[in-house]
Amino acid sequence: MVFEQRLVEIRRHLHQYPELSHEEVETTAYIKSILQKAGIRIADAFPLQTGLIAEVGGLHGGPIIALRADIDALPIQEETGLPYASKIAGRMHACGHDFHTAAILGAAFLLKEKEQELAGTVRLVFQPAEEKATGAAAVLKSGAMEGVQAIYGMHNKPDLPVGTIGIKPGPLMAACDGFRIELAGKGSHAAVPEASVDPVVAAAFLTTAFQSIVSRNVSSLDSAVISVTKLNSGTAWNVIPETAVLEGTIRCFDAKVRDRVLGRFEQVVQGVSAAYGTKASLQWFDGPPPVHNDERLAEEARKAAERQGLRVVTPQPSPAGEDFAFYQQHIPGFFAFVGTGGAHEWHHPAFDVNEKALPVSAAFFAELASAELKRLAG
Ligand code: NI
Repeated sequence: MVFEQRLVEIRRHLHQYPELSHEEVETTAYIKSILQKAGIRIADAFPLQTGLIAEVGGLHGGPIIALRADIDALPIQEETGLPYASKIAGRMHACGHDFHTAAILGAAFLLKEKEQELAGTVRLVFQPAEEKATGAAAVLKSGAMEGVQAIYGMHNKPDLPVGTIGIKPGPLMAACDGFRIELAGKGSHAAVPEASVDPVVAAAFLTTAFQSIVSRNVSSLDSAVISVTKLNSGTAWNVIPETAVLEGTIRCFDAKVRDRVLGRFEQVVQGVSAAYGTKASLQWFDGPPPVHNDERLAEEARKAAERQGLRVVTPQPSPAGEDFAFYQQHIPGFFAFVGTGGAHEWHHPAFDVNEKALPVSAAFFAELASAELKRLAG
């Protein structure tokens, strides 16, 4: 109860003072103070603007593994009405990264208690800017992943009850790419279209043509999403405009499908644009690749969950993106969905987590970390 209360306090503090990606200055200072109070060493060798790295164990050398929590919040006005709701207008921990941070701090406390017995080092990664998908890159650049042999992360999951853990080898979350297309045509009087190169007609065909990529170039057994979410052109009802701009996103679960879809997308942009006489320029916003769980780590995670008396389920993959995937390009990694039983999905203004899941997650990740170190140390 004391342990749970401590984690609840930490989570509620973080929840009241949410900070956006790359602005997590107070959050970082708070996490640092908690770690220092617990006697856990801060790894200053890995410099980050915001976020921080700490370490437990390694007193007798041995392998290194990492536990990662994301720490940033979202530009959302909270509408939970909770007594510990956000005190900062227009900012909210609406994705539960406060929960992840408190849970990994909890795992750190548990690991610290048996530091002498740990067969290696657990590197604790409090990562900034997950929501912008740029924080993992900052951590990688800091050198904090060098020598790390396995990395673990989590996301809370409102549709899974507390005490349940979603474990799935292979693809779990989608690759997340953004695009911006500018179609340059030639404006004219609306009544004289033959004098124009109409970018509106080209943009309309392009939007429709994209949908044939998913239906004609992706196997029925695979999946992909292409959504055009912004389409801007024109200033007046009687003028054919000069340009049209389309923006949107592409989601895929498989790296090969992603290559195929992105390749076809570029062909369709150039082909349709050429057919209508416009000039297209395409800009990509590279999101993370798919979260793809290592088979062996997933199996070990399942065993660890069972040792902890958790109910293990195979979760549905999520079409959301997660920059944990960047670590998995370098290091075998496992990402879990932790049941937090809430009424609202991620990014909803009334999003909340059941705090009873805090000690559950802390114990699970501590168990996972110490077991993997033991295995790696042989
Ligand atoms: Ni999130």
